Amino acid sequence: MSSIIPVKEFAERRRKLMERMAPDSIAIIPAAPERVRNRDVLHPFRQDSDFQYLTGFGEPEAVLALIPGREHGESVLFCKEKNPEKELWDGFLVGPEGAIERYGLDDAFPISDIDDILPGMIEGRSRVYYPLGKDQGFDTRVMDWVKVIRSKVRSGAHPPGEFVSLEHFLHDLRLYKSANEIKAMARAGEISAEAHCRAMKRAKKGGNEYNLEAELIYTFMDHGAPSTAYPSIVGSGANGCILHYIENTAPLKEGDLVLIDAGCEVECYASDITRTFPVSGTFSPEQRAIYEVVLASQYAAIEAVRPGNHWDHPHQAALKVLTGGLIELGLLPGTVEDAIANEAFKPFFMHRTGHWLGLDVHDVGDYKVGDAWRQLEPGMALTVEPGLYISPSNASVDEKWRGIGIRIEDDVVVTKEGCRVLTNGVPKTIEEIEALMAE
Ligand code: GLY
Ligand code: MN
Ligand code: MN
Repeated sequence: MSSIIPVKEFAERRRKLMERMAPDSIAIIPAAPERVRNRDVLHPFRQDSDFQYLTGFGEPEAVLALIPGREHGESVLFCKEKNPEKELWDGFLVGPEGAIERYGLDDAFPISDIDDILPGMIEGRSRVYYPLGKDQGFDTRVMDWVKVIRSKVRSGAHPPGEFVSLEHFLHDLRLYKSANEIKAMARAGEISAEAHCRAMKRAKKGGNEYNLEAELIYTFMDHGAPSTAYPSIVGSGANGCILHYIENTAPLKEGDLVLIDAGCEVECYASDITRTFPVSGTFSPEQRAIYEVVLASQYAAIEAVRPGNHWDHPHQAALKVLTGGLIELGLLPGTVEDAIANEAFKPFFMHRTGHWLGLDVHDVGDYKVGDAWRQLEPGMALTVEPGLYISPSNASVDEKWRGIGIRIEDDVVVTKEGCRVLTNGVPKTIEEIEALMAE
């Protein structure tokens, strides 16, 4: 059960979603499937983010139906039945009665009865919202339920005629974070920041990337947040230039930087932090020069996260500083305007400056409304993560720069006045990093 997000907030979310649904409709949202790892061993279960958002219910083999105006209750859960024998092996099951009591649902049934019960709930509703096309197996199940109704048309049954993707409505709700959601994300950010600090202190020549990953995992676990929001990236030396490097098995060499991009989840809410620091505890002149450019670009981007600006403003602010820095250091020729216009920066900075953050690390929500960039509004959460990556094979720059990969990433929430950084618990200035590593 969640403790930061109260039960009544889940009910409020369901109410808000139903307000946006057509009155004679039904929404059907499945829990995440369990995935086999090998033979009878499963991957650790992670609830589907949409299902989590609407229920807080953490078990697999469950389906939520939202039925606006239904007399016997609008929020209906199908879930596994209590089973003392099974629970002895696999742990506690909430059961349908428990789901009503503990999760504030209006009505609940055993999942084993869903094929008998759900078609009757769909019958007479003209529109079905569901995560269309997300999981082939579930698409088929929805159609199977509808077929049951179609087979009864001669007896007067009314099958639904419209099938609508749920995502548009639901994901727009998820984009605006409540005070409690921000609390969960701030807690995740706090734990992850501590993990990064521990990893920095552990780094030393002769160690290995996996030693630093171990510090991350230790800290997450030690705070009761064992799930990472995504596989941790611990890239030393030129591995820092591989954006999705997750091998994390290379030895740490004196003179190299380490780029760590890692964050835990709290109540399924993600954090996403990147820091880059020297194995030796001291930045070389070249590392320092590139680092100062990336840090200045991150400050500029964070400054641009405020209401009145749109989604692309922080990216443009970062791009200007990054490109200016590359030109000043002699890594790019020409003017900032030209280098941005002809994308000459791309070999050094090939990703966006951030993404929405929430239950998913790359969270849901539209970045554009029609052709216009989305306006930033209070409650929206995003990352700010500029970087510069000088590939070891980049022959256009002096050798001394090659293999330097630096990214600095923080999590921020838009406020009325500007934004709040949730991940300040880990240092990012050169002076602070060197001081922490010297401890
Ligand atoms: N760690 C994934 C990202 O930064 O987008
Ligand atoms: Mn990120
Ligand atoms: Mn990241």
